Amino acid sequence: MKKKLDTTKFYPAYPVFLLTYLNELGEAQMSTGSSSYTLGDTLVIGISAESNASNYLKPGEKFAVNFPTTKQFDLIEQGGFSSGKRIDKVKEYQIELTKSESGALYIDSCPIIFECTVGQTIRDADYHTVFAKIDTRLMEETLIDTAGNFVHDELDLVLFSGDAYERKFRKLDIKIEKVGGHL
Ligand SMILES: Cc1cc2nc3c(=O)[nH]c(=O)nc-3n(C[C@H](O)[C@H](O)[C@H](O)COP(=O)(O)O)c2cc1C
Repeated sequence: MKKKLDTTKFYPAYPVFLLTYLNELGEAQMSTGSSSYTLGDTLVIGISAESNASNYLKPGEKFAVNFPTTKQFDLIEQGGFSSGKRIDKVKEYQIELTKSESGALYIDSCPIIFECTVGQTIRDADYHTVFAKIDTRLMEETLIDTAGNFVHDELDLVLFSGDAYERKFRKLDIKIEKVGGHL
């Protein structure tokens, strides 16, 4: 038996990320997000039209997607509880940024980084949907095995779930299973 949930939004559980990008003055900016999906080298993210991030994630712009761990809730809230339109979050919270070979700025303390270039954006009054190309995937050494493959057991991400009433962080369980082992 199902009941209708009366809410204006519902997010089951999506990985939390920190966007790092530059403003028109070349100053580093940071914004927290969770609405995303990836398919191959394509990344799609949803950002509120009124955010600072929506002003700067425009076609051709480079940015980084930094995935924090469950030891970095402070970073997540620093990026998500105030707007770069009002404060310089990178300076205020002394966020240390590293320049990659491509010139994109990323947060080295986060274990997984996507360096991206914005392709297309679809904008309406409320949301900007950003289609980006993932140029490079940078991983902490412990997440790559000797054969060069990703070490799934070591993955520590924060998930975000919520509706219009409440917002929650969720941690990943370390129990993992191979896809295809259940038929
Ligand atoms: C866990 C979490 C997830 C969030 N996910 C999104 C998101 O997917 N899209 C979005 O526009 N805002 C999201 N926000 C809200 C923005 O981070 C927030 O509006 C922030 O102030 C935007 O910063 P900016 O204006 O400097 O870009 C999220 C906030 C938190 C704490």
